[in-house]
Amino acid sequence: MCGIVGYVGPGADERALDVVMEGLARLEYRGYDSAGVALVNGHEVATAKRAGKLANLRELLAEHPMPPSSTGIGHTRWATHGGPTDQNAHPHRGGTDGKLAVIHNGIIENFHALKSQLLAQGITFTSETDTEVAAQLLAIAYEEAQDLTAAMRQVVNRLEGAFTLLAVHADAPGVVVAARRNSPLVLGLGDGENFLGSDVAAFIGYTRRAVELGQDQIVTITADSAEVIDFAGNPAHGTPFEVTWDAAAAEKNGFPTFMEKEIHEQPHAVADTLLGRSTPQGRLALDEVRIDEADLRAIDKIVIVACGTASYAGMVAKYAIEHWTRIPCEVELAHEFRYRDPVIDERTLVVSISQSGETMDTLMAVKYARQLGARTISICNTHGATIPRESDAVLYTHAGPEIAVASTKAFLAQITACYILGLYLTQLREAQAAADVPEILRELAAIPDKIETLLGRMDRVREIARFMADSRSVLFLGRHVGYPVAMEGALKLKELAYIHAEGFAAGELKHGPIALIDAGQPVFIVVPGPDTPHSLHDKVVSNIQEIRARGARTLVIADEGDDSVAPFADEVITIPQAPPLLSPLLAIVPLQVFACELATAKGLDVDQPRNLAKSVTVE
Ligand code: F6R
Repeated sequence: MCGIVGYVGPGADERALDVVMEGLARLEYRGYDSAGVALVNGHEVATAKRAGKLANLRELLAEHPMPPSSTGIGHTRWATHGGPTDQNAHPHRGGTDGKLAVIHNGIIENFHALKSQLLAQGITFTSETDTEVAAQLLAIAYEEAQDLTAAMRQVVNRLEGAFTLLAVHADAPGVVVAARRNSPLVLGLGDGENFLGSDVAAFIGYTRRAVELGQDQIVTITADSAEVIDFAGNPAHGTPFEVTWDAAAAEKNGFPTFMEKEIHEQPHAVADTLLGRSTPQGRLALDEVRIDEADLRAIDKIVIVACGTASYAGMVAKYAIEHWTRIPCEVELAHEFRYRDPVIDERTLVVSISQSGETMDTLMAVKYARQLGARTISICNTHGATIPRESDAVLYTHAGPEIAVASTKAFLAQITACYILGLYLTQLREAQAAADVPEILRELAAIPDKIETLLGRMDRVREIARFMADSRSVLFLGRHVGYPVAMEGALKLKELAYIHAEGFAAGELKHGPIALIDAGQPVFIVVPGPDTPHSLHDKVVSNIQEIRARGARTLVIADEGDDSVAPFADEVITIPQAPPLLSPLLAIVPLQVFACELATAKGLDVDQPRNLAKSVTVE
């Protein structure tokens, strides 16, 4: 969702516009529908903004060049209050003289009440946004305080909801002031220049020295300084960290799309997430899990909270974690979890899974779990994000930056991290499966090469995808860990190709979904490996026969060497053999490639599908 960039550089340089525009381009992946910039020059603030993509803003800037400046802010907006129009695009100005400009990410929940008060004072508004209320309040506060930081402090204490605000004022050249509550904000430290961003991508082209700002903090940057206070005005500080990837990691590196590139990075995502977390003897060593071992031994329930793809990673994990640890494990959509009355206490371990670490629903679920006394662990791909900071411990996935809006490599890394956590708990609690941990780790370590092999033979899957470009509906069936894989395969197709797709548990077929099958209906079936317990393999092979008898076109994903499916399959896509619980790391790959290729064949933008945002920072 909204992307934010702030910059103050040396007076002589006056390259603020270039830095801010580059930052906005790197934040495009977050999803947006309008964009704008504000620059401070002399004693004026100039703004430019346009609905649509950055190309529209660039066109405007070419027609109406902005004055050179060393201080600027920029914004990509994902519309919430008010449609994606030029007027509603950020920055918004405040004050009768329009000397102040503000950009904002989040939602100011009490904006109606505040707006009514301002209207009663005779203040007029030019947009439908909640942001303009903050701009007007800041302008009034600045009049009184004659100091942008003091004005920000006054205003944030009147706002309710989630926000990151950045402000500049014509009378304070060389200064950007920012505040955050429940919305992302990271500081980038350069030499004689400083940066602000929704995430580090905003300034990765300039510095890798970053500071994660805490909740309810205000930061004032100039070219040479960055001062942090809390909302009460006390000195405060963020948490410094070094960004472990560089600008090249956020480029396409010869792939036509980020999605293609990220699908091909999956062997590394899994390998890097495993790296350095076990001894050569096969014991897990998770120094980063800072929860007391006695507390972890006492855990009697695990609840995984997440949204979308991350929740399917959680569903895969449930099978493995319960099997290995023998601790009951539930998976719940974060937005459902926090609005019911879950049975949670200090013996519950709540594991949140989030690529961005900023998903508002997941963040709120974590906060709620902590209020109820639970221990919380975050599985997250983004350093400096809010959810890990709000959790007792974090297990980072090392997938590298995921730029395509739809998740691929982060999904595999999330599953891998969940396995690591499950195996760690198994070892710590000396569960019966503890003796198997070294062997499971060996099998896991072999997965990246198997993904590589699989990616090398996706030609037929691509052909099938192009052939099916006109499909109106595709169904996905799976069982056991193949069930969440089917759900994720369906989600990828919906998101990327805008085709109706549904994932079902194969055992559920006869309880309703089989009515959907008629002549030619394409159905992907994820077949459990022949070693899967309880004859699940044979049961799914029976399901394939049942739907084929009713005219379905069966596209079967099965283990290499599993010849039993061929007689009932229109297409067999084989995946390298792996232990059943680890097989999702392979089975999902052809489904990702299928969705990506089909959407490409339809001429769609696979990196930025319509209506979607990468980090969903509002409810
Ligand atoms: C789908 C997708 C989304 C995210 C979900 C959670 O491809 O990317 O479903 O998985 O919005 O996002 P994070 O993991 O950032 O919390």
